Amino acid sequence: MKQMAITIEDASIKHLDRLYEIEMECFKSEAFTKQQIAQLLTDYNSISLIAKEDGKIVGFIIGMIFVDDNLLSGHILTIDVSPSHRRKGVGILLLMEIEKIFKERNVTVCRLEAREDNVAALNLYQKLGYKKVGKLEHYYGSAHGILFEKTLG
Ligand SMILES: CC(C)(COP(=O)(O)OP(=O)(O)OC[C@H]1O[C@@H](n2cnc3c(N)ncnc32)[C@H](O)[C@@H]1OP(=O)(O)O)[C@@H](O)C(=O)NCCC(=O)NCCS
Repeated sequence: MKQMAITIEDASIKHLDRLYEIEMECFKSEAFTKQQIAQLLTDYNSISLIAKEDGKIVGFIIGMIFVDDNLLSGHILTIDVSPSHRRKGVGILLLMEIEKIFKERNVTVCRLEAREDNVAALNLYQKLGYKKVGKLEHYYGSAHGILFEKTLG
């Protein structure tokens, strides 16, 4: 079967409906609201990217840049791949592309978190070189979170 190419592009507010649809497919109680996604897409300090396969949006990532003690850090707020398009490298591509943009903007460290039972996210992050740096007690209601960090060299 022919493998479709995945392309990564900048996201914008015009993609809101589709991004919210994917957010709802990916998360239950922890999903961002449509309004929160709209705010993130239009925030000056955010970077949002979409992954497309054959012209259709199949995933997205949103990160923010913060200033900590004069150093710039990147934080991934959400990474979502539509269930029908998982395990094809879309998540890796989105994360690698946002890291590239962070580096171009002099961001030295990237942070993200995952639920301690989110095996897909934990494996993805570790595959890309993220290290566990902390436990976030009850970060997701009753479930704990794990904080990961990667130095962007
Ligand atoms: C986490 C998520 C973004 C991964 O996206 P994806 O496009 O399927 O991931 P990739 O195909 O790029 O996988 C890269 C690596 O991650 C790991 N991985 C991904 N899905 C996995 C799964 N279901 N089980 C175990 N490891 C998994 C593997 O190491 C994989 O490499 P491999 O396929 O060579 O073994 C996706 O599962 C998702 O959207 N989940 C719901 C939203 C979410 O939990 N986001 C993260 C928290 S914000």
